[in-house]
Amino acid sequence: MKKFIGFMLCAMMILTAAFAMADVATLSSVKDKGELVIASSPDFPPFESLQGDGSVTGIEIDIMETVAEKLGVKLTIEQVNFDSILLGVMNGSYDMGVSGFSVTEERKKNVLFTDPYCLAAQAIVVVEGSNIASKADLDGKMISVQSGTTAELFCLQNGYTIDTYTANVDAELAVLNGTVDAWVIDDLTAAEMVASNNAGNGKKLVILSEAMTTEPYAFAFAKGSDDLVGAINYIVNEMVTDGTIAALFEKYNAPYTSPAAAN
Ligand code: ARG
Repeated sequence: MKKFIGFMLCAMMILTAAFAMADVATLSSVKDKGELVIASSPDFPPFESLQGDGSVTGIEIDIMETVAEKLGVKLTIEQVNFDSILLGVMNGSYDMGVSGFSVTEERKKNVLFTDPYCLAAQAIVVVEGSNIASKADLDGKMISVQSGTTAELFCLQNGYTIDTYTANVDAELAVLNGTVDAWVIDDLTAAEMVASNNAGNGKKLVILSEAMTTEPYAFAFAKGSDDLVGAINYIVNEMVTDGTIAALFEKYNAPYTSPAAAN
């Protein structure tokens, strides 16, 4: 009997743990534990990038520091591959996804988003001197993209042949070393990564002027996190309206396009 009770207790504990894991974040769960756990893929300057000392910095990290401060909790950053973030958010491993997420109808089926805080676009990057000068020249060419991104989606929907990479920097390397003909990547990140590549001695990269899409960026949450989304949305909207976000773009030398420009 003792053994049986022990077994039942064990089983109950495992079940509780399983359910606890499946709990999605709420405003009170975040406040109770005193921390906001964000999942981020820090390979996306100027929004989130990994520094030499292991810390993560960028526009979105600065935004989240203010958000956490206003919620009265500490900020914890989990470094996660971009293509695993939304699943982890949905199963409650992280409170939210902070990774330059473009809002799409497809993603909205699975997660909740704050209102957008900026607008971005997809850009085409090629090696200097390449015979690709515009989108029209991409037909039949091989394109590198980061796995799980809207760049990947865009290329697939438009019938392009793609080579998919988990890390952004590997998608960049693929175009540099000629494994692919072009790299499709969000415009502001393209600008920053191309500038730091071109500061070196190797092959130079060029960003084509033709933007492929318009994409609003926002922060992602599990369905069921409504009150947390509401609280963070309020703070982020305030930061958009009072110019704090525009100032953050300036701090990171990036041009800012307000989400209102989409209307
Ligand atoms: N904006 C694109 C998307 O939502 C790319 C984001 C990539 N982010 C990153 N941290 N690597 O799919």
